[in-house]
Amino acid sequence: AATLHHEWEISYQFKSPDCVRKLAVTINGQTPGPTIRATQGDTVVVRVSNSLLTENVAIHWHGIRQIGTPWADGTEGVTQCPILPGDVFTYTFVVDRPGTYMYHAHYGMQRSAGLNGLIIVAAAPGGRDAEPFAYDGEHDVLLNDWWHNSTYEQATGLASVPIRWVGEPHSLLINGRGTFNCSAAVAGTCDATLSECAAPVFDVVPGKTYRFRIASLTSLSALNFEIEGHPMTVVEADGHYVKPFVVDSLSIYSGETYSVLIKADHQDPTRNYWLASNVVSRQPGTPTGTAVLSYLGAPRGPPPTPPPAGRAWNDTMYRFQQSVATVAHPAHVEPPPPRADRTILLLNTQNKIDGRIKWALNNVSFTLPHTPYLVAMKNGLLGAFDQRPPPETYAHQTYDIYAVQKNPNTTTSNGLYRLRFGSVVDVVLQNANMLDANKSETHPWHLHGHDFWVLGYGIGRFDPAVHPATYNLRDPVLKNTVAVHPYGWTALRFKADNPGVWAFHCHIEAHFFMGMGVVFEEGIERIAELPPEIMGCGKTKGGH
Ligand code: C2O
Ligand code: CU
Repeated sequence: AATLHHEWEISYQFKSPDCVRKLAVTINGQTPGPTIRATQGDTVVVRVSNSLLTENVAIHWHGIRQIGTPWADGTEGVTQCPILPGDVFTYTFVVDRPGTYMYHAHYGMQRSAGLNGLIIVAAAPGGRDAEPFAYDGEHDVLLNDWWHNSTYEQATGLASVPIRWVGEPHSLLINGRGTFNCSAAVAGTCDATLSECAAPVFDVVPGKTYRFRIASLTSLSALNFEIEGHPMTVVEADGHYVKPFVVDSLSIYSGETYSVLIKADHQDPTRNYWLASNVVSRQPGTPTGTAVLSYLGAPRGPPPTPPPAGRAWNDTMYRFQQSVATVAHPAHVEPPPPRADRTILLLNTQNKIDGRIKWALNNVSFTLPHTPYLVAMKNGLLGAFDQRPPPETYAHQTYDIYAVQKNPNTTTSNGLYRLRFGSVVDVVLQNANMLDANKSETHPWHLHGHDFWVLGYGIGRFDPAVHPATYNLRDPVLKNTVAVHPYGWTALRFKADNPGVWAFHCHIEAHFFMGMGVVFEEGIERIAELPPEIMGCGKTKGGH
C-alpha cells in the first residue's frame, strides 16, 4: 500500500460557479477541490494550511471510518479544535475500503461555501472487494446546490427571530458548474460567457459501458438525477456493492454516493444528451442543473431537446421504493448481528426555543460544545459538556406525527450517548410534521465512524411491537447516509466497535445548524494518546 501526500491551501477566492461572482472557500484555488484518488489500503496524508485570514476550518472525510485515527475525522467540536488562520493541520488516515466517498468542511456552515470534493478508492487488485461488474470507462459527478448569499448571512438568518430561512438555492451545480439567468443578477456580477461556468461535458464512445460515480454534497436539496434517454443500473451505494437495479431517475440525498452503469447505446448516437439534476422533496424554485453527455462523432454543443425535468417533486413513493430496492449485492452480503443490545428511538421534530426555530431529537436540540468531546472525554474534562445523557425514546405510543405539535418542553443540550464498546445498537429515526401544517421533509442522516445496516423503512408511526419483525436481516445494504422519508421511519443497526466520538446528524447543513444531530461515544478508553494538534480550544487552552 502507498502513502499519498497532498498539500492543500485553503483560501477565499472570487469564483463564478454559476456565472455569478461570489467569494468561495477553495482548495489550492479550486472549488470543488481536487479529487483524492487512492487504492484500498493506502494511507492518505493531507496537509491543510488555513489561509482564510479570519476564519477557522476543519475538513471531514465523509464515509471514511477512521479506524484507529478518530482524531482525523475533521469534525469541529467533536474530534478536534478548529484549525486557526495561519495554522497547519495534517490529516492522516487509511482508506480501508474501495468506493466513492467525499470530503467537506465541517465547521459552522462552511461546507456551503465551496470546500468540498470527491474521494475515490479503487479496489485492491484481485482482492475480495473486487467489483462485481465491468465497465469500459468512468466519469465522476459531484452534485451540489449553490446560493449567492454568504454562509454568514445564512447562519445569522437561521438564528434570528423571526427566522430568515435560507430559501431555495439559486442554482444547482454539477462538478462545480451551473447556470443562472444573468438578467436576474446584480449588475456587473454575472457573465454567462465565462468558461468557468460552462456546462461540464462527459465524453462517451458509442457501444461502450460507463461507470458514473455520483455524489451529492448539497446543503439543502434532495435531488433527482437523470441521464436523458439512458437507463442507469445502480451498482454501488456509499461504498458498498448493491444488488443491481435499473432506474431512469436516481434519487440522491446530501451525503450519499452511488455508482451507476450506463451503456452508450442510444439509438441516435449522432446527437448529445443531457445530464440533469432537479430538486425533489421540497417544492422546487431552482432551474435544472445540467451537463452534457457527448457521443464521439456527434457535434459539440448543447443537446437539441430541453433538459429532463425529473420526477414530480412530491412523488415520495418513487423515492421510497428506491430506498427499499437498495440491498446488498448477493456476492457481498455482510449479514448484520441478529439482534440489538440497545435501541434508540429518535423523534425528529421542529420546535421553538425562545422564539427561535430549532430541530430536535426527542425534544432535545443539539448544540456543539466548545471543547471537542474526544479531547474532553480522554482528558476527563468534566464540565466541558452536559453530562446527562439525552433521552433514549419519546412518547411514541401517543405522539401524533401528523399533527403540528408545539413540543413546549424542548431544551438544548450537548450531551452524548455513551455506547458499550462492541455492543449492537439500533437507531430508529421517526419523522413527523413540521411547525407548518401538512409538511414533513426528507432528512438524510449521516453517521461518522461507521457504516450501518439499513434494516427497514416505513411510512407512518413506527411500532416497536410490530415493525422489528419486518426488518431485512438477510441482505441489508451497508451505508453511511440514509433518508428518513416524510412522515416515515428508518431503522438502522451498527456495531459500536470503533473507538472514538462520532457525530450522527441530518446532512442538510441548515438542519444540523438548527440542532438536528446527536453524538455517540464508544471505547474512549481504548484510544492510546491523542495528537496535541487537535487541542488548543475551550478547556484545552493553556492555563487549565
Ligand atoms: Cu458529510 Cu458530519 O458530515
Ligand atoms: Cu434534516
